[in-house]
Amino acid sequence: MTRTPLIAGNWKMVLDHQQGTLLVQKLDWTLKDAKHDHAAVEVAVLPPFTSLRTVQTLIEGDKLPIALGAQDVSAHESGAHTGEVSAAMLTKLGVRYVAVGHSERRQDHGEDDALVRAKTAKALEHGLVPIVCVGEPLEVRRAGEHVGHTVGQVTAALEGLQAAQVAGLVLAYEPVWAIGTGEVATPEDAQEVCEALRAAVAGQFDAETAAAVRVLYGGSVKPANIASIMAQPDVDGALVGGASTDAGDFAAIVRYREHPS
Ligand code: 13P
Repeated sequence: MTRTPLIAGNWKMVLDHQQGTLLVQKLDWTLKDAKHDHAAVEVAVLPPFTSLRTVQTLIEGDKLPIALGAQDVSAHESGAHTGEVSAAMLTKLGVRYVAVGHSERRQDHGEDDALVRAKTAKALEHGLVPIVCVGEPLEVRRAGEHVGHTVGQVTAALEGLQAAQVAGLVLAYEPVWAIGTGEVATPEDAQEVCEALRAAVAGQFDAETAAAVRVLYGGSVKPANIASIMAQPDVDGALVGGASTDAGDFAAIVRYREHPS
């Protein structure tokens, strides 16, 4: 089973639509040379909602090999939900990926496993690819309960889905203590949890589904550490925060295959 690696840039609440346009243009120039094989690594950017239309126009107009993603989606179909954005609206903008259950949404907006499950199901219903984010806070890691914690989050998010739906989605392991802190998990830490998440999918669904699902690592990913993280057998890519808002850094992360090992 070959899983195409995915490097996704979660811009969070950084870069307005003009800055975002510039970043995507720079990113494209930096990736455009003979050494970089676009087919070998999939690249996605997840701008804030206000930039989606502008970035979509650029990607589609110039036929850039970059996928568009959103940072969140409503669990509701449509209607009286002030401030929310529906899966249908995202699909209409050419959005392919959507992050659900990011730890910042769980922490700052009280999102629980039930809501993450509902958002995942709604995204799939509309043909979006959910990037289901899980990860343990520092105290859970210190207690040695990180595997149980993250497996529990994944199992809850995927409950009730069909195996074929799960095979096409993306999981992202983002230890909360490694997000924006500069404290990256070791490649072995990343592998331990990504392997456990894949095994959990095998248990909840089947081995074929587990072999197909892509599992990303996120948390202080930088050009200097990406290659060793990507060398892990169960890590299929990265969800990059801070470094994805710098075109040079993000391009260097995307080009991890060219780094000396
Ligand atoms: P940083 O790369 O800034 O640590 O953020 C990771 C993240 O939360 C991506 O979703």
